[in-house]
Amino acid sequence: MNPLNHVAIIMDGNGRWGLKYKNSRNAGHKAGLHTVEKIIKETINQKIQYLTLYAFSTENWKRPKAEISYLFSLLETFLIRRIDDLHRQNIKLKIIGVKNFTIKLNKLLSSAEKKTSKNSKLQINLALNYGSKFELINAIKNMIKKKDKINETNLIKYFQTKDIPDPDILIRTGNTKRLSNFLLWQIAYSEIFFEKKLWPSFNDQDYKRVIKKYKTIKRNFGNV
Ligand code: FPP
Repeated sequence: MNPLNHVAIIMDGNGRWGLKYKNSRNAGHKAGLHTVEKIIKETINQKIQYLTLYAFSTENWKRPKAEISYLFSLLETFLIRRIDDLHRQNIKLKIIGVKNFTIKLNKLLSSAEKKTSKNSKLQINLALNYGSKFELINAIKNMIKKKDKINETNLIKYFQTKDIPDPDILIRTGNTKRLSNFLLWQIAYSEIFFEKKLWPSFNDQDYKRVIKKYKTIKRNFGNV
């Protein structure tokens, strides 16, 4: 059976779910947050060490201002209400991406990271204002600036994921098959699951099915 250390998720389909069931895209984001809670719980049950969630991409700034504000207000409320409990559960929160939000949100994110930095049961990497192409260009610039030899080891030490093993599983919900600029380097050998369900409808049973399937896959890493 394959070891499972890291699951990464593109949580797609909130907007469509919201429009279909509540006539509002934002209602879909709110429901999506409930799924986040359920998946965190099951990730702990499964004793998985790393969970990376794509919450806001560098391209998501193109969305209507009102939707962006709503997403960030959801995140603020989540941090204010839930960080102490996450901390008590020995969960570490790490942000990957560039923290250039409001002063209030930047502070909340930094303080949540600081508070939970020594925790060890589960590390949740929240990808916020994250883009894989930016991460790669930035790493290359750093390698050149530091006059490093150009190789894999030197490149990845400038990624924000530098201390995190590559994902074993990548899940994308929402019935679309694309990677949307997410961890493009890191998923070179991940097992990818494209799920039909919209993120708010995805549940722990679906998650368990993916994990069960993953465990039976023969992973070759280029070998035979
Ligand atoms: C993609 O669905 C989802 C997002 C861009 C935001 C993800 C946010 C959440 C799950 C809730 C907030 C999470 C935290 C941790 C506070 P979409 O809007 O692109 O859906 P669509 O493809 O149906 O339009």
